[in-house]
Order: sequence, then structure tokens, then C-alpha cells
Amino acid sequence: MPVTRRQALISVGAFAAASALPLDGQTQVVSFDATNAQSSVEPVCLTDFEPLAKAKMQPMAWEYVNAGAADEITVRWNKEAYQRIRLKPHVLVDVSHLDTRVSLFGQEQAFPILLAPAAAQKLVHPDGELGTVRGAAAAHATMVLSSFSTTRLEDVSAAAKSPLWLQLYAQTDHGFARELVQRAQTAGYRALCLTVDAAVTGPRNRETRANVKLPPMPDPEVVKGADPALTWKDVEWLRSFAKIPLLLKGVLNPEDAERALNAGVAGIIVSNHGGRNFDTIPATIDALPRVVEKVAGRVPLLVDGGIRRGTDVLKALAFGASAVLIGRPYLYGLGAAGEAGVTKVLNILQHELQLAMALTGRTNIASIDRSVIWS
Ligand SMILES: Cc1cc2nc3c(=O)[nH]c(=O)nc-3n(C[C@H](O)[C@H](O)[C@H](O)COP(=O)(O)O)c2cc1C
Repeated sequence: MPVTRRQALISVGAFAAASALPLDGQTQVVSFDATNAQSSVEPVCLTDFEPLAKAKMQPMAWEYVNAGAADEITVRWNKEAYQRIRLKPHVLVDVSHLDTRVSLFGQEQAFPILLAPAAAQKLVHPDGELGTVRGAAAAHATMVLSSFSTTRLEDVSAAAKSPLWLQLYAQTDHGFARELVQRAQTAGYRALCLTVDAAVTGPRNRETRANVKLPPMPDPEVVKGADPALTWKDVEWLRSFAKIPLLLKGVLNPEDAERALNAGVAGIIVSNHGGRNFDTIPATIDALPRVVEKVAGRVPLLVDGGIRRGTDVLKALAFGASAVLIGRPYLYGLGAAGEAGVTKVLNILQHELQLAMALTGRTNIASIDRSVIWS
């Protein structure tokens, strides 16, 4: 049967987005199994994973992943703020070769897209963090492991075939915190992200209504919770003995960014915890430009929150981020199909970034600047 040009284009696009990406001269093929999910539709974008995950996950786990603080206004703003930003197309540039690599703290990343730390992944899928780390490796992506992990950090690193970073909450017990950092360094983790936006746990109304209970963690000391007495002195203390780069995760206020530089951090993750801890604070993409201005290139800035499309990644880079992290989207992938779901979420986003680069006439990451924004 003859195939129209339109049909051919649609099927080529679907194949490229859904199955394989050439990386480092190799082609990876991702097999996706969501056979028990209630939808028979093959996911072609990140939000397509949501109904697939919902059909497979326990209702309590589903509520846990989706939850935000209070009325979840910041959760919504994180996504809507990207939708308001318009891109400026650029035509007739040779975009037959695209280079998506970035270097962060001397570590080469195939794409400027990392997996944000997320606690208790065995709630999402029985493979938990091991599913995520394997899924990340197949897409050449760095995973940031939450210190509220349901798998020991050494077991995750033993399964890792791509770089790993560790997220930390400040611990009241300095001895335990030092030991955790040393264990991470010994196990080969390549950066630390100290989360600073949860000095107290915000009003997670949806979690309370759903009676969310986290499964047991292998390191019970870690869940003693965030330390409300944490100050900049503790950041300096951590930095004084950490042998790997220390980033602060959860900075929105430019003044805090300046203070972070004085404390000697290697990088900052502009984050509002995916809107999970403090409602009605700004969308991260709205906060990013002011932090970029204050930091003025002194350290790399990363951003997370609400990124669902390759165009969102491009916009974050255009506003000065060196890389982005995604949270809920890969948890939906994990919930829908385990490690293959994580890989597929990453591959789709990576491919969408390539398309956005091509259509704005940018052949490498360094060439993505404010001029891709329609202003
Ligand atoms: C279920 C879940 C658990 C999370 N657990 C942690 C955590 O343990 N530590 C942390 O720093 N951030 C945690 N976060 C926040 C993410 O690291 C990230 O900032 C956020 O998910 C980004 O927004 P997005 O989900 O819209 O991509 C969690 C997020 C989710 C959805």
C-alpha cells in the first residue's frame, strides 16, 4: 500500500522518538513492556507515561509521586511557566550533526539531562533504585540517588554503569553525615547535592490524605529527618572534608546563591523541590534568570521542576542553566515499566531536545543562548 509523505513522516518521527538514539556511535534499542497497563497506546511523550504508571501503581504510591505542598500551586506553576515561554525558530542552518554533550565538574554527560533525587523508589516499583540506575545507564544519564533510598547506596553503585551523584539531607548527627559522605566517596559517587529547601517538612496535604507511609530504609539513621538548625556553617563543614564537588539543591533566592558561593559550593541546583515543600514560591524557570545574574558564571547552575518537554530543556539552557534534572517523569516511567520505562522517558526527552536544537538552528549546547527565546 502506498504511504503518503505525511504518513511516512509520522512513522519516522514516532520511531525515532520511541525507540533508539545514536550515541557514541552506538544504537541502543529500548524494549518497553507496559502490557499489563490499562492503556494499549505506546507512549510518545513524557506525559503519556502518567496513565500507564497510574494503572500499575498502588494508589498510595501514585499519590506520593504526584503530591505537592498545600494547594499544589507551585507544582502547577513549574509546568505553566515553561508553556508561557515562546521559542524563536531559525531556518536553513546545517543541523545534520548535533552535539548534545556537556561537561559538568569534569564529568562528560551525553545530554544535559540528569535524574533528580527521589526518595523511596521501591514504593513506585519493586526494583526501586536499581531499576532507575539501570534505566539511566541505558540512556547514558547520571542519576542522583536520594539519601532516603530504599536500596543501600553501595548496592546502587554496584549496579551502576553511568555516573552517580548522592543527595544528602543535613543530619543532626555530624558523625553519621561524615560517614555517609565517606561511604559515598568509597562507592564511587562523583558529586554531593545537599538539599537545603526542606529545613522543615511542608504541609503535604495530599500525602496526609492518602496516608502515605514510606517503606523501611536500609540506613534508618538517615530518615531522622532534616535538621531545622542547619546553617551556612554546616555547609562549610561538609565542604571542608568532602573530596567530591558539593552542590546545594533548593536555592531560588539570588541572595542565598551569593551566600552559597561564599561557602565554597561547586554548583547550585535551582529547585523548589518540585513544589513539594513550600507552596506559592515561584516556578524555577522564573527564578533562574535572577540567580544566573547573581552567580555570573562563577559556578554551574542546574535547574529542575516542571520539565516535561525537550523544548523545556532548551529554554532552561537558554536562560543559563548548564543542565536540568527531571523528577516525576522518570518515576512515572519506572512505575509503568521498570528500568525500560526510565530509559524510554530519557530517550524521548533527549530526542525532543535534539529536535528543539535543530529547529532553533543550534548544533551544540554551548550555542544555546537567550537568542532562541522569542522576546
Ligand atoms: C516522589 C518524589 C520524591 C522526592 N524525594 C526527594 C528527595 O529525597 N530529596 C530531594 O532533594 N528531592 C526530592 N524530590 C524532589 C526532586 O529531586 C526534584 O526536585 C523534583 O521532583 C523536580 O520536579 P519535577 O518532579 O517536576 O521534575 C522528590 C520528588 C518526588 C516527586
